Amino acid sequence: MSNKTVTSEVVLSLKNVSKNFGAVAALTDVELDIRAGEVVALVGDNGAGKSTLVKILAGVHPQDVGVVKIAGQEVHLASPSDSIKYGIATVFQDLALCDNLDVVQNLFLGRQLRRHRLDEVTMETTAWDLIRQLRAKIPSVRIPIASLSGGQRQSVAIARSLLGNPKLIMLDEPTAALGVAQTAEVLNLIERLRDRGLAVILISHNMDDIFAVADRIAVLRLGRNNGIFSANQTSRKEVIEAITGSVDNAVTQRAEAQSK
Ligand SMILES: Nc1ncnc2c1ncn2[C@@H]1O[C@H](COP(=O)(O)OP(=O)(O)OP(=O)(O)O)[C@@H](O)[C@H]1O
Ligand SMILES: [Mg+2]
Repeated sequence: MSNKTVTSEVVLSLKNVSKNFGAVAALTDVELDIRAGEVVALVGDNGAGKSTLVKILAGVHPQDVGVVKIAGQEVHLASPSDSIKYGIATVFQDLALCDNLDVVQNLFLGRQLRRHRLDEVTMETTAWDLIRQLRAKIPSVRIPIASLSGGQRQSVAIARSLLGNPKLIMLDEPTAALGVAQTAEVLNLIERLRDRGLAVILISHNMDDIFAVADRIAVLRLGRNNGIFSANQTSRKEVIEAITGSVDNAVTQRAEAQSK
């Protein structure tokens, strides 16, 4: 958690965003503002609409109604390339890395095919620069992804998303499959992203992770906003009550115990 008061520019602003899938109201009237240099944890129970929100911002599906603004300008995110163009980077839960390719090849996958081919030396130097800036612990940029740990893979996926120089990065459950030490590495890396002035949306079910790095916690419940909390002015209990919609102590205590 950063102690500084966040007064920087609003990078992303959502107003009245709704999305239905047939009869299912996945999101209804959702609002959210995120500033540069801020980590916002997006939390909610299964089916609360978190991934739907990420997919709208990633240009995977458009919202039915509502306005998305980037740096104060309304944008239409009709495709993933629109989203990237507006400075939104997404690290999906499955990471989408190629196991048999090395770190450099994964970082530049798709990019080296463009008209201005990047040379190997530039790609390798850029890869090392990024990894050093993130202080990620990657033994070599010339080893295949298959031989990296889960935390190292997450670092490579995050490094790759930074190549487009985004203003906002969305991480979907980045620590879900990780052990204690690797989780700590990824949380450190999220702090590096904030230090670089990025706005970060962190989706997580883990209260430890959320309270370790988030500045604010935005709760979705049944597709609607159900509270936005300052991390240093709220408690797990309050957040869990907002997630579950329950003030029943037994439910909250059990959820609290499970979230650790
Ligand atoms: N492509 C789709 N077609 C139909 N319904 C969908 C689709 N995507 C999501 N939904 C529905 O929208 C609602 C919100 O789903 P979403 O995946 O956004 O939840 P979530 O908060 O990410 O949950 P989880 O924590 O389980 O990942 C759910 O009821 C889900 O079944
Ligand atoms: Mg999801």
